[in-house]
Amino acid sequence: MALRIGVIGAGRIGKVHAETLVTRVPGVQLIAVADVISAAAEELAARLHIPVATADYRDIIRDTSIDAIAICSATDTHSPIIIEAAQAGKQIFCEKPIDLNLARIDGALEAVEKARVKLQIGFNRRFDANYARVRQAIQTGEIGDLHMLHIISRDPAPPPISYIKVSGGIFLDMSIHDFDMARFLTGSDAVEIYTVAGVKVDPAIGDAGDVDTAFMVMKFVNGATVTIDNSRKAVYGYDQRVEAFGSGGSISTDNQYPNAATISTGQHIRRDLPLNFFMERYTASYENEMRAFVDAITNNKPVPVTGHDGRVPVVMGLAAKKSHVEGRPVRLNEIS
Ligand SMILES: NC(=O)c1ccc[n+]([C@@H]2O[C@H](COP(=O)([O-])OP(=O)(O)OC[C@H]3O[C@@H](n4cnc5c(N)ncnc54)[C@H](O)[C@@H]3O)[C@@H](O)[C@H]2O)c1
Repeated sequence: MALRIGVIGAGRIGKVHAETLVTRVPGVQLIAVADVISAAAEELAARLHIPVATADYRDIIRDTSIDAIAICSATDTHSPIIIEAAQAGKQIFCEKPIDLNLARIDGALEAVEKARVKLQIGFNRRFDANYARVRQAIQTGEIGDLHMLHIISRDPAPPPISYIKVSGGIFLDMSIHDFDMARFLTGSDAVEIYTVAGVKVDPAIGDAGDVDTAFMVMKFVNGATVTIDNSRKAVYGYDQRVEAFGSGGSISTDNQYPNAATISTGQHIRRDLPLNFFMERYTASYENEMRAFVDAITNNKPVPVTGHDGRVPVVMGLAAKKSHVEGRPVRLNEIS
């Protein structure tokens, strides 16, 4: 029997997950969608033929015919919804970050453990074929002993200021994917983070108490040095690259493009811009993560991205922020 699922939040990522579940994931039926903006839920339900649209996510949690939920609503709603859903016995997929506050994260993880339900966190980049190949090269020793890892992660344009205000800021909203990537690729954990950051893209982001340009240098337990380079605005599109360098060589990944054509003229040799943002660039990864979630529930396997995997990058984000504010390297054990 198909797994019956409800999506909570019909914004940017809720739409991506709903469409993925309806069109590309076998063994699942999307039964309901909730959004406090009823029109958003109704529009999505109508477009994808989802039977139920509601403004109240509790309608989904109370529906005993629904097995699992995908939490895609604003960040500050995640941990309370996890707790209610766990208590109702739902299997849970939750977007990153679990919460901006570690005590609230711990409360949510405790509720999950107590209810013995599954919780998978939405670090979708782990399911991208490029990063999986880099991880393989590092983990199998194909490039020898890892010395350095460089992660470049720049968005094509900043989100609205209203989003920035509830997102937790660049370190907990955007860099968090790169912190997870650093853990995933190295198979290790950070010991210390030093951040240099500022406002270069839009002064309104600074007025909202955030930064839009950040560079982080980290020491890892396995001895590797990891850098993360973030910008909220790359004029040429979504810039997502990594390079790993080790004693036996290196491995790197490039951006992805809508086509592989090269245009040569008397003045230039050029190509089209890379895929513009996460909805296009990471389409396959969203499908793979949802297939993995459904597989974990249907076949009672461990989820591939756990609550612990969701918590650690929040600790890293808090350390990166503290480092920026205090202008010094911060050890992770100062945070947790
Ligand atoms: N993994 C990824 O690639 C990825 C990408 C984007 C966003 N995200 C994460 O997903 C979450 C949502 O981000 P977004 O970009 O879609 O934001 P968004 O603002 O586009 O959408 C959020 C939606 O949630 C709705 N909402 C808020 N509170 C609600 C509630 N109590 N019940 C039901 N709906 C509620 C809002 O009305 C809005 O429609 C954030 O936590 C963000 O960090 C993850």
